[in-house]
Amino acid sequence: MGNSFSDLRREYRHVALHEEDVCDDPIEQFQDWFRQAVELDVPLPNAMTLATATKDGKPTARYVLLKDVSEKGFSFYTHSVSVKGQQVAENPDVALVFYWSQMHRQVRIEGRAYQLSDKESDAYFNTRPYDSRLAVWVADQSSIVESREFLESRMSGIEKQYPGERVPRPDTWVGYRVMPAAMEFWQGRESRLHDRLLYTRDNDKWRLVRLAP
Ligand SMILES: Cc1cc2nc3c(=O)[nH]c(=O)nc-3n(C[C@H](O)[C@H](O)[C@H](O)COP(=O)(O)O)c2cc1C
Repeated sequence: MGNSFSDLRREYRHVALHEEDVCDDPIEQFQDWFRQAVELDVPLPNAMTLATATKDGKPTARYVLLKDVSEKGFSFYTHSVSVKGQQVAENPDVALVFYWSQMHRQVRIEGRAYQLSDKESDAYFNTRPYDSRLAVWVADQSSIVESREFLESRMSGIEKQYPGERVPRPDTWVGYRVMPAAMEFWQGRESRLHDRLLYTRDNDKWRLVRLAP
């Protein structure tokens, strides 16, 4: 297989997405596509757009990194005091979007976000590099700061406060898991008749339909 992205793009134009070839469970289907994206060295395959909204529906969106996916859902980590954290607290309905351009693939997810337990957030926090653990103490995410110098001097203060490897997790740095209610897999096709398969959850069962491109 050619390694260059243009070769990859060319190959994926001939890939089709048929109802009979996909998994019954969309999370397994996602894991399959994600594995392929990793194997093909797609840059930042775990970068996903996270859309949240206020209680009255005013949306905001930003990228975050997917850190785990299992039958329980899709997890990411952030600050609960940030704009997204505040919005999830007042309105747990969120959307996620992945785009793997070299594979002509998009995955859209809609569902509810739940905060992870302290134990789960601690477990992931403790795997992060020292600098990343320090940095979360510098200031509340999304708060207005007076200058770059303010951040740098806070960072050196925090470094002095936690000189060893032991840096505690602030209570406001937490994980969230998105439990999907709908997931759409989009495969771009050469003909412009792109494939779109949508799974929606109906109690404990997933229903699969095809959407017009
Ligand atoms: C590729 C990429 C990955 C990111 N991953 C995260 C992440 O995992 N967690 C996070 O809090 N911010 C992440 N950010 C920063 C967010 O996009 C955003 O700037 C920040 O979380 C504040 O968002 P908010 O004010 O809407 O809450 C990432 C940014 C980029 C470009």
